[in-house]
Parts: sequence; C-alpha cells; structure tokens
Amino acid sequence: MASANRYATSWESFWSTSTGAPGEIFWDADPAHAAQEDLVLFQSHMDPQLTMIDLGCGNGTQTRFLADHLAKVMGTEISPAAVEIARTKHAAPNVSYRVLDVLCPDDAQILHQEIGDANVYMRAVLHQLSSADHATAIQSIERLLGRKGVLCLVELSSAAEPYFAQLITQYGPPPGLTRVFQHQITPGMVNENDLDVLFPPDRFTLLGTGPSHIHTVHTLPTGEVVKVPAFYAVLRRLQN
Ligand SMILES: C[S@@+](CC[C@H](N)C(=O)[O-])C[C@H]1O[C@@H](n2cnc3c(N)ncnc32)[C@H](O)[C@@H]1O
Repeated sequence: MASANRYATSWESFWSTSTGAPGEIFWDADPAHAAQEDLVLFQSHMDPQLTMIDLGCGNGTQTRFLADHLAKVMGTEISPAAVEIARTKHAAPNVSYRVLDVLCPDDAQILHQEIGDANVYMRAVLHQLSSADHATAIQSIERLLGRKGVLCLVELSSAAEPYFAQLITQYGPPPGLTRVFQHQITPGMVNENDLDVLFPPDRFTLLGTGPSHIHTVHTLPTGEVVKVPAFYAVLRRLQN
C-alpha cells in the first residue's frame, strides 16, 4: 500500500498542475496515432457489448475516442485531478470516469460486481509501476476482465530505454519528459519477452502480440515526431 500511495501522490501532483498547454503531456497523442491504431489490433477479439475500461486513462483523450466507436466506455485513474480533467474535457453520453488504483484488486472486484466482465485498454500504464507491483496490477486486471473480457496492452518495449538515451544525448530531454521527472514519477520497464511471466499461460491466453509505438506530442528539430518503441499484446483469461 505504501507504494500505491507513492503513485497517488506523484500522479496527483502531475495532473493537478497541468495547464492544458499544447505539448505539455508527453504521450497525449491525437487518437488517430494511438487508440485508433490500437483498436484495429484488438477489435476483432473482443465482445463489443462489454464495457471498455481505459485503465489509467489520464486526461481522457484516448477514452473519448473509444467512446465514439464502442457502446460503453469507462476511464479509470489513480489521480482524482486527472478524472476531473477527463470529465470536463472528454465527456460523452456513453463514457464515465472514476478513481481506481490498479493496485487495489478489491476495488477492481467491486467494479466488476457493478458492471460485469469488461474489456480493458491499457496504454503506457504498466511501465509506470515498479516491477514489484506488476503482479498486483495484473490481479486487478484479471478481476475486471472476468471470463469474457479482453485486455489490450500497449507498452514501451525493451528498445525504449536505449531510444530515450540516444534521444536525450542528441537533443536534450523533451520538456514533457522533464515535467514527468519533476513530479517524482520514476517510470520502470516492461519487457515484451516477459509476457508469459507477467501473464502466465495457466491463467491467460495470448491472442496476439507485435511491435508498436507510443506516439508522443514532441517534435524534434528535424521535424520528426518522437515515437517511442513499444509493443502490443491482446490477452484474455484462460477459459477452463
Ligand atoms: C503515461 S500516462 C498514460 C495515460 C493514458 N493511458 C494515455 O495513453 O494517454 C500513465 C497514467 O497512469 C496513471 N496511473 C499511474 N499509476 C496508476 C495506478 N496505480 N492506478 C491507476 N492509474 C495509474 C497515471 O495517473 C497516468 O495518467
């Protein structure tokens, strides 16, 4: 619980001081370069009647896009300030937002009792947790999915770290990234080769995986937009 508090404090500090200025949120890409591309990867695997949970939805940019294409969408966040921004800026009749810490499986269970099995979209969230917390987060996800839900995970890959190192050496740190560190947020790593450790085959079925990227809002002096190497994985709970 102590580690969960660390996330809550730093992310609340991050979101409560965001001004909405263009380029401020490093990963806040136009959905055409994010949720839209991701939806293509997992749409055929999921039951569209289930609620889609955008887990760790931030300011709701991607959540709102999903709501244009799916029947019912819910954005969940550890940060109440992020939920407030999302409710204000990215409202729609079929979207709701709520505070939920992915490191509280009991709260995930309560949400599951309320809405039933759900699909889960998780973009650039898991790597924000320390590896010691991954198993707890995945326990929550398991509870949200139930028997019928599908998880679409989009995460920085093992190539992200050398990519950032090279980027910073060449151009200096992007301001959006500096802002993350100013709030004592210390991103970790998820390795695409550890998928079967994170999601053991006796509990999950891997429906698809492959390379992807996290499109950012940072443009280099060359005119190129920073796209951080990532991977996607589509998973469901093993059906017994
Ligand atoms: C890099 S941002 C990605 C936001 C969003 N998924 C997107 O693609 O725009 C990571 C998000 O995870 C949220 N987060 C961090 N720890 C969390 C936790 N324990 N439970 C739920 N959300 C969390 C943060 O508040 C932040 O909004």
